[in-house]
Amino acid sequence: MTEIRTIGVVGLGAMGGGIAQLAVEAGYETIGREVTQEFGDAAAARIGHFLTRKVEKGQLTADEREAAVARLETTTDLEEFARCDLVIEAIIEELEPKRALFAELDRICRPDAVLATNTSALSVTEIAAATTRPERVVGMHFFNPAPLMPLVEIVQAELTSEAAVAVAVEVGSRFGKEVVTCHDTPGFIVNRVLIPLLNDCLRVLDEARVTPEALDVAMKNGAGWPMGPCALVDLVGIDVHVHAAEALYALTRDPRMAPPARLMTINNAGLLGRKSGRGFYTYEG
Ligand code: CAA
Repeated sequence: MTEIRTIGVVGLGAMGGGIAQLAVEAGYETIGREVTQEFGDAAAARIGHFLTRKVEKGQLTADEREAAVARLETTTDLEEFARCDLVIEAIIEELEPKRALFAELDRICRPDAVLATNTSALSVTEIAAATTRPERVVGMHFFNPAPLMPLVEIVQAELTSEAAVAVAVEVGSRFGKEVVTCHDTPGFIVNRVLIPLLNDCLRVLDEARVTPEALDVAMKNGAGWPMGPCALVDLVGIDVHVHAAEALYALTRDPRMAPPARLMTINNAGLLGRKSGRGFYTYEG
């Protein structure tokens, strides 16, 4: 099995930043790529902040924090990924940009490097088909916020080799995650269930004429959810949920997968949830 020492992460947004944090904490040399150095610096500062909080809470020593921070390098240049044993992609949830990126990574990375996608709802098989090494392409689907949510789904696409799955399982375990493996079907395991369920919740807003606050109180206290559906969609990102729901609808033609009209309206208005300061709720700072 390829020994993994250096991990590349493409895209250091909410998901990629969290994945890069997991990688440095697990002891991997990590190269994070963003489109501008300012975005890269901001992501590194966010990771530094979360690691400082862990020191303040006694979950990490100051030395461990320093060592973890030192393992992170940020770049704007994909060519740096020639040094990586594993690359995890966490860019926009759209098929064509992902396929274009995988074709680039295929050109740049060593032939034995494993290329992973964090896609939540697109076909890993179609992404892998953009490369000349589909047997080295695998899904590694993390949940938001990646450093806190204990699960990673490892997705075996049509041509993924057992060896590439084993690499992803090994890295997921070293990240401290519960690892489940599954085949490349729409929504994999969790989103196959969660996306239509969240869509149903949002349709209930209009059907039962309840407020987002009331719906969230109901689902937290009546169904034991850790956070209500409106707060959860705000956390995930309204645009991310819409993209995932549209992708699942395109793949399944199941009307429950389609994003509810109300969510499309919020999305079109540019209210993207926590990251834009406003979604169902308004956020400070
Ligand atoms: N990255 C790193 N660390 C973070 C973080 C982040 N994004 N967000 C928070 N933290 C750290 C902070 O340091 C924080 O401590 P301080 O506030 O003291 O600094 C610490 O974690 C704990 O944060 P919270 O107090 O907010 O933690 P909590 O106990 O309230 O739990 C939660 C937060 C884990 C998010 C919990 O509310 C939860 O489980 N919610 C459900 C989330 C969920 O269902 N996610 C899945 C979404 S679906 C998905 O992701 C699929 C997809 O494909 C789109």
